[in-house]
Amino acid sequence: MATSPYSIPLHKPFWGREEEKAAVAAMRSGTGVGDLTSSESLAHKITEITTSRYVLPTGSGTAALELACSILLSKGDQVILPSFTFSSCANAILLAGAKPVFCDIHLDTYNINLDEVKKKITKKTRAIMLVHYAGMACDLEKAGILAARYGLKIIEDAAHALGAKFKGRHLGTFGDVGCFSFHGTKNAASGEGGVFLTNDYKVFKAAEIMREKGTNRSSFMRGERRKYSWVNVGRSLVLSDILSAIALEQMKKLDKITELRRKNASYLLKKLSNLSPKIVLPVESEGSFANWHIFAIRVPKRIRDIVIEGLRNYGVEASFHYLPLHTSIMGKKLGYRRREFPITEEVASTLIRLPIYPQLKKSEMDYIAEVLQKVI
Ligand SMILES: Cc1ncc(COP(=O)(O)O)c(C=O)c1O
Repeated sequence: MATSPYSIPLHKPFWGREEEKAAVAAMRSGTGVGDLTSSESLAHKITEITTSRYVLPTGSGTAALELACSILLSKGDQVILPSFTFSSCANAILLAGAKPVFCDIHLDTYNINLDEVKKKITKKTRAIMLVHYAGMACDLEKAGILAARYGLKIIEDAAHALGAKFKGRHLGTFGDVGCFSFHGTKNAASGEGGVFLTNDYKVFKAAEIMREKGTNRSSFMRGERRKYSWVNVGRSLVLSDILSAIALEQMKKLDKITELRRKNASYLLKKLSNLSPKIVLPVESEGSFANWHIFAIRVPKRIRDIVIEGLRNYGVEASFHYLPLHTSIMGKKLGYRRREFPITEEVASTLIRLPIYPQLKKSEMDYIAEVLQKVI
């Protein structure tokens, strides 16, 4: 892929010499396969940071979601999730033989509307998939009450949410399973990569086997058995030790990354406040400590694409986000129609993502604000 033609790209990984050195060291020390020392250290570091009991590095956030669904769901189950999310969420449910049941979101947080979730619960509902959009927490207290009342599992898609918290606790640690992503666009990045988190020993054990082609190789790698063999149906979802080494360095910088993004968000919010109410600015939701993975504004539908184009013409890589799943080609195949989820459609057609990465300078944010004003 070519390098970004924009002077201010949408994403810039916060990588330095530490990540380069760690990747080279991992390459020199062995074969780079999963479950070696860097993967182990990465899992320990994430346990230490999040306090989640069991942590498994995976090849991607998608892999973590697929692991979660294949373990928690059975054929014919239904899972309620927002339509305003990435295809990986619905794919993971479908690949487990279950049915994704889409739901609308809130206009202020872009997170799933739990009152709407309640209306969609049936005898077949097995789980709710919560997506913490932009690293802003869903209402986890309300979700917990709902799940307990109806005996549902919670799968937290925390792909955006490394370092973000709800009432002081890390996102991804509230549900039966939490899933993080180390995709190159995420706050902590290893190019591709992800993490599966759980506090449930049985779920962890099943995941460990499923993740390693259905074998007990992970326990063999820890020296707990002399041989490993095939024990169940499985997939290949481990994270290479080279990528784990990069992810580990990123985890060491997570507080710094979060702090810089929070600083940038508050500076941009101040700079753009004079454009309100022409544009809708993001707000940190109740109880949420956001990691500002995404800085999303909204503008009137009729000018959204023109504003994106205008920003791009001035070298600022702005973007739309999430074409709703229910209006996608696959969504239609599942029987969904346009106008079923009005808030989702409103948000998807008015949202603009602006650059917010840690290295962004004040002068660059001044420039973004100036260009936005001019374009609008
Ligand atoms: C909400 C959400 N979940 C899951 C994923 C998939 O993560 P990955 O790219 O690591 O597979 C993404 C991708 O960006 C995402 O936005």
